[in-house]
Amino acid sequence: MSKKEINLCDAEGNTTTLPLKTGSHGPTVIDISNLYQQSGYFTYDPGFTSTASCRSAITYIDGEEGILLYRGYPIEQLAAQSSYIEVCYLLLYGELPNGEQLAKFDHIIKHHSMVHEGLKNFYSGFHHDAHPMAIMVGTVGALSAFYHDSTDITQARHREISAHRLISKMPTMASYCYKYSNGQPFVYPQNHLSYAENFLQMMFSLPSEPYKANPTFVKALDLILILHADHEQNASTSTVRLASSSGANPFASIAAGIASLWGPAHGGANEAVIKMLEEMVNSGQNIEHYIKKAKDKQDPFRLMGFGHRVYKNHDPRAKIIRNMCHELVDELGAENQPLFEMAMKLEKIALEDEYFIQRRLYPNVDFYSGIILRAMGIPLNMFTVIFAMARTVGWIAHWLEMMDDPQQKIGRPRQLYTGHKRRDYRSVVDRD
Ligand code: SDX
Repeated sequence: MSKKEINLCDAEGNTTTLPLKTGSHGPTVIDISNLYQQSGYFTYDPGFTSTASCRSAITYIDGEEGILLYRGYPIEQLAAQSSYIEVCYLLLYGELPNGEQLAKFDHIIKHHSMVHEGLKNFYSGFHHDAHPMAIMVGTVGALSAFYHDSTDITQARHREISAHRLISKMPTMASYCYKYSNGQPFVYPQNHLSYAENFLQMMFSLPSEPYKANPTFVKALDLILILHADHEQNASTSTVRLASSSGANPFASIAAGIASLWGPAHGGANEAVIKMLEEMVNSGQNIEHYIKKAKDKQDPFRLMGFGHRVYKNHDPRAKIIRNMCHELVDELGAENQPLFEMAMKLEKIALEDEYFIQRRLYPNVDFYSGIILRAMGIPLNMFTVIFAMARTVGWIAHWLEMMDDPQQKIGRPRQLYTGHKRRDYRSVVDRD
């Protein structure tokens, strides 16, 4: 057996030799693509805790060391020195742009930011109190009904145009959800503004008065967008990859990713964190009551914003965003704001509690992002929409990578069947 192979031996003495593959970072993988044909065995890995679903060159995470790299660049350096639009270019094209490339890309993204006027009619079909994520799933999916000129996914240029359109239109469509919910007029994008500032003006400006976004809010939002741009094969990215593996168009596939992100165990956690903190502040119960609930296996309560499937050390994004959280709270003089106070108390207690230490449950990026968004006046039900806005570039980068991968085929997992063995139909008169 060469060092590039591994032998699988079963109780009957049958041996299957499988190839090993090593990437540029991370664990070596056992290539099981021919395991069933060679051995008659499937593998079983619910939740894919030990399974590499694809090969990818976009993002690398080391959960033990708390490392996150976008195309090899540490998230700490990108957060400190880059911008979201530059990170979008990096994730899509694999390299940091030079000045001319960045200016051209920024111009393209800005000039796709308007949506077809007909798309606005979709919003009026929703109740005013519809959750914005429900609206985003519907309207982003509906984009495929407007852009027939770029849904031939076999053409690289069509794929690139769709990528630009989705990245550019997400802030516009997201802000429309908010404007529709409060009966205010939709606000058009302004091409002279940066991505983050443009979103804030579409969210909060009114036709009746001038608006200038708080520069600290613009900086905080751009940071949140950078930190949420991509994260390897998380649930929503895997959803986009599986949906588009059938040849579904990118708009429909991204809508599937938005739906997956909405769950409270995933992107919905930032909204759930604030709801949890508000309950803690308003319930009159002490924090220990909630810590006890979080440990109780009979109780579905979890400490939202804590734990991660991959990070069993600190989430590097959480460490970065925690500093921004403190900066913003200090600037706003909100350090004794009950929600922030409760969050800091909870963070301290959880980090000293044996249950969390033993399970390596640390605050994740969602624990702090919600506090920042709340401080910026973003409504709670828009938190996950902002996550979706940021993650669109990551979903698209993975879609493009998959479409260019010669090994790409339709995703079709198998199962461990535990149902009835074959049995014959009995007519209703013969049943008990
Ligand atoms: C995101 O995958 C990604 O990359 C996602 C993301 C991205 O950028 O795309 O990083 C974004 O989704 C961040 C995570 C946001 N979710 C939350 O904050 C929700 C709260 N967290 C948990 O639901 C949970 O930690 C998960 C879902 C995030 C991870 O769950 P795992 O890896 O499946 O871990 P597990 O459920 O097997 O938990 C291991 C143990 C269990 O206890 P034991 O059975 O071993 O006794 O830890 C416990 C769990 O009960 N546990 C928690 C807990 N999270 C795990 N107990 C209390 N509170 C928690 N938050």
